[in-house]
Amino acid sequence: MFSFLKRKNEKLEALSAETERKVVIDIQDITKMYRMGEIEVHALRGVSVKIYEGEFLSIMGPSGSGKSTLMNILGCLDQPSSGQYFLDGEDVSKLSEQSLARVRNKKIGFVFQSFNLLKRTSALRQVELPLIYAGVSGRGKRAKAALESVGLGQRLDHLPSELYGGKQQRVAIARALVN
Ligand SMILES: Nc1ncnc2c1ncn2[C@@H]1O[C@H](COP(=O)(O)OP(=O)(O)OP(=O)(O)O)[C@@H](O)[C@H]1O
Ligand SMILES: [Mg+2]
Repeated sequence: MFSFLKRKNEKLEALSAETERKVVIDIQDITKMYRMGEIEVHALRGVSVKIYEGEFLSIMGPSGSGKSTLMNILGCLDQPSSGQYFLDGEDVSKLSEQSLARVRNKKIGFVFQSFNLLKRTSALRQVELPLIYAGVSGRGKRAKAALESVGLGQRLDHLPSELYGGKQQRVAIARALVN
């Protein structure tokens, strides 16, 4: 079994004394069972956690304890065998593939260890991409603001090959934040 490490934002803590903090992720008694022929693998056996707006959290545990399984569920890439998952108030534990894709596009940002940037696409265009899929307007402006927020305002037209590793990762972070 893995454990959660939560670091609370002090400003938010002070705020929450006066106002209710918003729960962004609420999973209740989630299980995940993989079937491999005759064998059942119980990767998650009843995990519950609430994650509040502005919280930073890491999942720690030994190999095989179910971290990736949980991350796949939290990222709406996979669904639990049982239990409920409320993301921003919406029950996403039983949505169709297509609805899950919508939720990923609108609510979740992924930053991968290997950046997964498109080779022949400018930084600005990479960050615009999730907004194009979402069909929102003012894309250029929002993408530019996201790149500026990670300190790449001067690199909008650069291709990944023209950026060093750290800057490539910042493009990926801007892309994760823009929606
Ligand atoms: N697709 C799958 N089919 C069958 N069993 C799986 C599948 N994916 C994971 N498992 C099993 O579920 C359990 C949890 O695996 P998971 O990959 O979530 O662990 P982890 O904590 O991410 O491990 P690691 O630290 O090695 O990445 C393990 O016993 C694993 O063998
Ligand atoms: Mg893993």
